[in-house]
Amino acid sequence: MSKFINETVTYVHHWTDRLFTIKTTRSDSLRFRSGEFAMIGIEVDGKPLVRAYSIASPAWAEELEFFSIKVQDGPLTSRLQHIQVGDTLLVSKKPTGTLVLDDLLPAKHLYLLATGTGLAPFLSLVREPEMYERFEKIILVHGVRHTEDLAYKDFFENELPNDEIFGEWVREKLIYYPTVTRDEFKNQGRVTDIIKSGKLFEDIGLPPMNKDDDRAMICGSMAMNADMSAILDSFGLTVSPRMGVPADYVVERAFVG
Ligand code: A2P
Repeated sequence: MSKFINETVTYVHHWTDRLFTIKTTRSDSLRFRSGEFAMIGIEVDGKPLVRAYSIASPAWAEELEFFSIKVQDGPLTSRLQHIQVGDTLLVSKKPTGTLVLDDLLPAKHLYLLATGTGLAPFLSLVREPEMYERFEKIILVHGVRHTEDLAYKDFFENELPNDEIFGEWVREKLIYYPTVTRDEFKNQGRVTDIIKSGKLFEDIGLPPMNKDDDRAMICGSMAMNADMSAILDSFGLTVSPRMGVPADYVVERAFVG
């Protein structure tokens, strides 16, 4: 029996020549928790060509959403970027992953720390009611190279705060903090640097991160994940050692390819 479900592409949006979003149908049999990833891809020469992708839609949604980079010589994304509405997307039957609310101990604030397409799992979680029930403030930091890479900026600044279901929670609890490293922008600097220097906390008016009040989820490149983990460790937060063991923070690499 195949490990994959055939879903049908319903929407494709190209943000830039390097970033795009795909939405597909969702089969009833596909179960996942907000923040998890699936293996997705296409069939090439009769065989599945797949990579791990965080599911950007929440667990309750009727559709699936994925946020992808385009790597011109990447085996999968060089092909996936040409996918069209009506095409088939293979999606693995058993999503999994570490960026789940179940693996965070209770606290006041939740920091969602992303670079690039590492934003994807947090697009799912910001539409997860449990997140707003469990935390007083949620701070989503998205670090990118150029302002045009701030995909979903309008979603965070306009759409979500006015959403029928989530609007009130979002306006009260969610702080969206985009930061750019290679263009002029209101917030500049690497996610790691603005946390280490304390600039982020000054800008958002919250105390520096500490073990009693703060939890975090990290999703970016391998280097970003490692650097950010070291900073959180230095603040006294403890990483979840494995799935199912709750702690102060959880970490996952952004899947590209
Ligand atoms: P920079 O412009 O200084 O490289 P990428 O597209 O390479 O994944 O980068 C996305 C964003 O992540 C960029 O703003 C980049 O900054 C930043 N970045 C790259 N490496 C790290 C790291 N080790 N820690 C924090 N941010 C990083």
